[in-house]
Amino acid sequence: MAGQKYDIGMVGLGVMGRNLVLNIAEHGFSAAGYDNDPSKVEELQRESEGRPILAVGNLGDFVGALSSPCAIMLLVPAGQIVDTVIRNLLPYLKPGDLIVDAGNSHFKDTDLRSKSLAEKGILFMGVGISGGEEGARRGPSLMPGGPKDAYERVKPIFEAVAAKVDGNPCVTYLGPGSAGHYVKMVHNGIEYGLMELIAESYDLLKRGVGLSDAELSALYHDWNEGELNAYLLEITSRIFQKVDPQTGKRLVDVILDVAKQKGTGMWTSQDAMDLSVPTPITDSAVAMRNLSILKSEREAASKKYGTRAILFKGDRSKLLTKLRNAIFASMFIAFAQELAQLQAASAQYRYGLKLEDIARIWRGGCIIRARLLEDIRTAYHAHPRLTNLLEDRRVRKIVKKNQKDLRFIVQLSAKLGIPIPGLMAALAYFDGYRSAWLPANLIQAQRDDFGAHLYERVDQRGEFHTNWDQI
Ligand code: 6PG
Repeated sequence: MAGQKYDIGMVGLGVMGRNLVLNIAEHGFSAAGYDNDPSKVEELQRESEGRPILAVGNLGDFVGALSSPCAIMLLVPAGQIVDTVIRNLLPYLKPGDLIVDAGNSHFKDTDLRSKSLAEKGILFMGVGISGGEEGARRGPSLMPGGPKDAYERVKPIFEAVAAKVDGNPCVTYLGPGSAGHYVKMVHNGIEYGLMELIAESYDLLKRGVGLSDAELSALYHDWNEGELNAYLLEITSRIFQKVDPQTGKRLVDVILDVAKQKGTGMWTSQDAMDLSVPTPITDSAVAMRNLSILKSEREAASKKYGTRAILFKGDRSKLLTKLRNAIFASMFIAFAQELAQLQAASAQYRYGLKLEDIARIWRGGCIIRARLLEDIRTAYHAHPRLTNLLEDRRVRKIVKKNQKDLRFIVQLSAKLGIPIPGLMAALAYFDGYRSAWLPANLIQAQRDDFGAHLYERVDQRGEFHTNWDQI
């Protein structure tokens, strides 16, 4: 298609970039793709037949083929590669052009890049994309942040390619600067938390109750059919069915119990600490991935300490119901912690986030999509400034009703010796959050005793110091 100008450009034709280009082209827009790996260019060329797609391996040709002012998306691994790509692009760009970083970049990097590109007159957006390969191809959830006028330029394309729930696209403008990448980071923090909760339920059911993979698959399928409905439960049920062609065993049983990470969950926890927001479920999820990495140490310790293998002897069907309820309550608590982080981040970084919008665009396309997001959306619709989701009347009813079962599961797992720090953190957070009094008075006294850090009193204003060694 000589002479044709393309609506949008894509740098990075890996799985995500290539599928997003195909998705864009199927929605009435033309797209040009660039990659420095010729095999990826050829792959897109093969797939682009009959579609308004150009795939090239020359950066000048790529930018030259775009309509002006141009909009270029980057779908390259987070980190230095993003800076390298931007540096390589700059000689071909002019003021008013737009770069959209759609990878999982750290939000602080996004702020730095926005600032330095703004000085050159180049617009920069940080956009979170969730949904993996399937999402990119069939409809992801998109979390855009950056200059509002820049968003207006890509809005028609984003709305067309995004997943739809009740006909509404799972995308909306979230806020200035790094707002989009911050929201995507927190999305991943929740993703880590939910995955950990599900993995803990699996451990309890496998080692504590002795459920088979087929039974596990059926159970998660059943949970996914009801109020717990969540994409992560859907894929979990599917995973337990998959047979390994090499061994004939269920594939999950021949996968090494070591969970890697690219860092977004850890970043979420790190920034929660910076903001003084408690997010113990995400923290536990990151810690358990790190504990999983210590495979040889764990093997040695299991020989020295032994691993408890007490099988649950009680009523199995009652236990399964209690576990489902415990997971349901914990899912709400996981969202509550992370949405509280978003509220705090919005104030601190001046994002002006609307949590109702975020819950709405997470209902489809993304990894954490779940039925409970509709309850969450409704809660923030009624009270946009809700500081904690647990304050919402409907959510309160659900958590109150299920907390007894969460408590039972925590007790049982401790007795059986099954580690469930995510569920324990959910319960402890709930118990701590609803405690009008916590033992922090003692901590204040200790700090003042050893370090003269002062304390406050319940009956007087001001800060006080006491000489504690004089009884
Ligand atoms: C998504 C995913 C995606 C990616 C994770 C994996 O929303 O589509 O979150 O972004 O799969 O980053 O993260 P870890 O490698 O850290 O588990």
